Amino acid sequence: MMSLAWPLLRVTEQAALAAWPQTGCGDKNKIDGVAVAAMRDALNQMAMKGRIVIGEGEIDHAPMLYIGEKVGTGDGPAVDIAVDPIEGTRMVAMGQNNALAVMAFAPQGSLLHAPDMYMEKLVVNRRARGVIDLHKPLAENLRVVAAALGKPLDELRMVTLDKPRQQPAIQCAAGMGVKVFALPDGDVAASVLTCLPDNPFDVMYTIGGAPEGVISACAVRALEGDMHASLLDFCQAKGESEAHQQIARDEHRRCREMGVEVNRVYTLNELVNSDTLLFSATGVTGGDLMKGIYRSGQTIHTQTLLINGIERTCNIIDSLHYG
Ligand code: FBP
Repeated sequence: MMSLAWPLLRVTEQAALAAWPQTGCGDKNKIDGVAVAAMRDALNQMAMKGRIVIGEGEIDHAPMLYIGEKVGTGDGPAVDIAVDPIEGTRMVAMGQNNALAVMAFAPQGSLLHAPDMYMEKLVVNRRARGVIDLHKPLAENLRVVAAALGKPLDELRMVTLDKPRQQPAIQCAAGMGVKVFALPDGDVAASVLTCLPDNPFDVMYTIGGAPEGVISACAVRALEGDMHASLLDFCQAKGESEAHQQIARDEHRRCREMGVEVNRVYTLNELVNSDTLLFSATGVTGGDLMKGIYRSGQTIHTQTLLINGIERTCNIIDSLHYG
């Protein structure tokens, strides 16, 4: 499977290149549509038996790369795929920073197979590995992480998403003196940044998408960090309206069918249980993790982070695309 690293790089590059001309167009669906088409095309040229195990939507939500979709030529290794064609479609639509095209590969059976729903996620880097426990309140986790890092709480840096549902967590952390960085979108980049050696954050805590959670878990594992996560139903993330209750009932049914549980804490090893993994993220708009795409003359420049779980390498690859 590891020989698929360069073809995987090409997949996220192609998706990013397809989305980038739409920067500022205001239409999230259009951006997702072009990125998905480019990704599917590139995936189907790869010598593998690929299957989307977690992604943005089910079969009836075409043109998504839907959960259960088979991709690749049908020859070669059997690969589980976690995908978010564009992580931050709103950012591309609004011409804002931090959007990525992102995907992770692992051997068949090694990634959490779950519906596209909300997930509570807690990520730390290698120096705090083994101390987190999502069964416990956030405050307690922040205290043990600070102790593991040998920092006073007012030097601990927590990154999260700036969403209404995050306000209790933001107030809790800020009330303890922790420095809080609330990003508008993009918890994959936040998770990776937390685990990199020159990490700008010590803890990533948020409620965001489950696909983004499993993709992040691949990077976290390869970077030797730690992660706990729990699937949440729509009512838990968005409130208890009649419409939300129907969505939540469907989510519970899909979880039963896929053999996963709502509100169960999954450890990093349960999110991704192999070191044989690849993670690729290409910047669309410029951000803290990757440069965005730009043109100079006839050349278009992309930047991609390619992580290899076996070699434990992070390659930052600048590509020039002619034509
Ligand atoms: P998408 O662009 O794929 O929707 O992801 C952006 C993002 O901010 C993710 O990083 C996060 O997990 C999710 O959205 C949060 O969901 P919501 O936008 O519903 O708050």
